[in-house]
Amino acid sequence: MKRTLRIGLIAGAAAALFATGTALSQDPPFGSDDDIAYAADLWTVLNEARLAGPDKILTRPYEGLEPHGFMLETLYDEITVGGHTGTVVVKRNYGPEGVSLEEVANNPSDHLAAITVMFRRADGYDSETGNWFWVKYFPDGSLDQNPAGRKLAGLVGKGADAGCIPCHMGAGEDMLFTTDRL
Ligand code: HEC
Repeated sequence: MKRTLRIGLIAGAAAALFATGTALSQDPPFGSDDDIAYAADLWTVLNEARLAGPDKILTRPYEGLEPHGFMLETLYDEITVGGHTGTVVVKRNYGPEGVSLEEVANNPSDHLAAITVMFRRADGYDSETGNWFWVKYFPDGSLDQNPAGRKLAGLVGKGADAGCIPCHMGAGEDMLFTTDRL
């Protein structure tokens, strides 16, 4: 769904990304050893494809909002992870608040706060949520975590009030805010 329709939702749920997991049960569907290993493989491929890492392809950033950041870049591609080829959407999140487009464009590494990624896994991974694998990396490829210490990789927020999945459900069936093309 187009982002213009979603401004209210963005503002209303602004803190939700950072509250991820607070409403989760004991064993949330993310942050398992398998999820962490998969996120590491994905990170390697993202670096090879120049979607992340020191040689990443740069685009012109644009102004964003929390939870993702005050300047954003969004890239779409097809990559292969563990023999499966699927769509990947990479969002680079820049800050802090008040940072200008020029500052980010001229010195992206100094302002990169996080890289949030959606990768469409094989059918049957989780058809209810479009088979997307969700992950939030720091610029060095390590994983962010929720307040309970659970790494943000896998079906992040599924079945909970906050997190990637509940918020992105507001974008419609494809779970994508920025495009209906994929
Ligand atoms: C509170 C709501 C919210 C939460 C929580 C959230 N997102 Fe988003 N996400 C958005 C919005 C709004 C956009 C569109 C931003 C823009 O204009 O570029 C977006 C865009 C994206 C995109 C680009 C694809 C798209 O939807 O257009 C990716 C990838 C992404 N988010 C990943 C994540 C991941 C991974 C998490 C969890 C770690 C997460 N998001 C948590 C609201 C959220």
